[in-house]
Amino acid sequence: MTLLIRGGAPYGERAADLLVVDGVIAAVGSDAATDPRAAGAETVDAAGLIVLPGLVDLHTHLREPGREDAETVHTGSAAAALGGYTAVFAMPNTDPTADTAGVVEQVYRLGEQAGLVDVHPIGAVTVGRKGERLAELAAMATSAAQVRVFSDDGDCVSDPLLMRRALEYVKAFGGVIAQHAQEPRLTQGAQMHEGEVSARLGLTGWPAVAEEAIIARDALLAEHVGSRLHVCHLSTAGSVEVVAAAKRRGTDVTAEVTPHHLLLTDERAEGYDPVFKVNPPLRTRADIEVLRQALAGGVIDIVATDHAPHASQDKETEWDNASPGMLGLQTALSVVIATMVRTGLLDWRGVARVMSEAPARIGGLTGQGRPIAAGEPANLVLVDPEARWTVRGAEFASLSRNTPFEGMELPGRVVATYLRGRCTAAAGAVVDRAPAEAGRGV
Ligand code: DOR
Repeated sequence: MTLLIRGGAPYGERAADLLVVDGVIAAVGSDAATDPRAAGAETVDAAGLIVLPGLVDLHTHLREPGREDAETVHTGSAAAALGGYTAVFAMPNTDPTADTAGVVEQVYRLGEQAGLVDVHPIGAVTVGRKGERLAELAAMATSAAQVRVFSDDGDCVSDPLLMRRALEYVKAFGGVIAQHAQEPRLTQGAQMHEGEVSARLGLTGWPAVAEEAIIARDALLAEHVGSRLHVCHLSTAGSVEVVAAAKRRGTDVTAEVTPHHLLLTDERAEGYDPVFKVNPPLRTRADIEVLRQALAGGVIDIVATDHAPHASQDKETEWDNASPGMLGLQTALSVVIATMVRTGLLDWRGVARVMSEAPARIGGLTGQGRPIAAGEPANLVLVDPEARWTVRGAEFASLSRNTPFEGMELPGRVVATYLRGRCTAAAGAVVDRAPAEAGRGV
């Protein structure tokens, strides 16, 4: 199949035609349209649009197996394609837990069958994510799913000895431990960020130190054993300082921030609407400012969604009992544009770095997050930078509705997503594979 994408601006720079042949970028620039292979190509008018490498999400909850009422690999993949993603990493807090070769292979195969994005399962660090003994990390790494990222996300690997062993173990196959940094004793019963607002509302607080202490400990452990640590959903100004110090020491540590932590503050809890309940919790305006600067400056490496779909019965209940988590895949790019691009903190090269290139590198992907250049896989997203749209959760491809951005007007819209040259989303609709192709895998 041959595709000619005309007039789009790679990285928001000079407009350049792109010729895609059999899933690979064959030519870029003035040669593309005149290339003999362009004769008879399907042509896409991308004038005025920005072309970025397909986005990569290092932190997605797809809920399958076990909670197919909240999301499935297929519906989550659809949400991802609509959000401009060509690869997602699926967190293992499913039921059963993705802690064996069997379960990670199941998730991987479901991703292949959906065929909308590359689905890379993350393996649990400990059996059942219980924090008691290590899961079979090597079996997951050598399975068909080739797991490289391990996490007990949703819970912290709080035992320092287990964390040390996990860090040591993954070195053998170039893996990384993605830590949900939350000291459990310091956050027992916590409902929101510990600060002025929690004091006023009378809700039990989740102090910033509970995150910062674990990151400091684990960065030191990673340095001690010479392994790689990735910090999930970093949310406080103090955590930025800790990561910056670890990086200065030469520790192999990377960190992510979520779109919601870049935009929303703990004041959202004032209405007791559980759609704003998330773990780690929304923090303060001062934290947000530091997180944005850290993402722009490289102390925080990537944006990851922590897309956390929840069925209405788990979310539309009183604050204390509601499950923490927010949808993110279909709003992430627009929130990053609002908070980072419109503020002048990142240019489009920067967006490509934090939402595609760096997450692919951290996750060990070789065919994603690549430059827009001849010979590279055609994983691409076309973005209309001038569009504005109003978030309507009811229109999302996700099976759940828990978006904290409901009714908000956001800038920038995904116009089309291409996975190895095949259009997976266009004009706000998912493009499923033709029936003849379905089931063949990616
Ligand atoms: O808010 C959250 N929701 N934080 C997590 O760490 C887990 C996630 C979920 O699985 O719902």
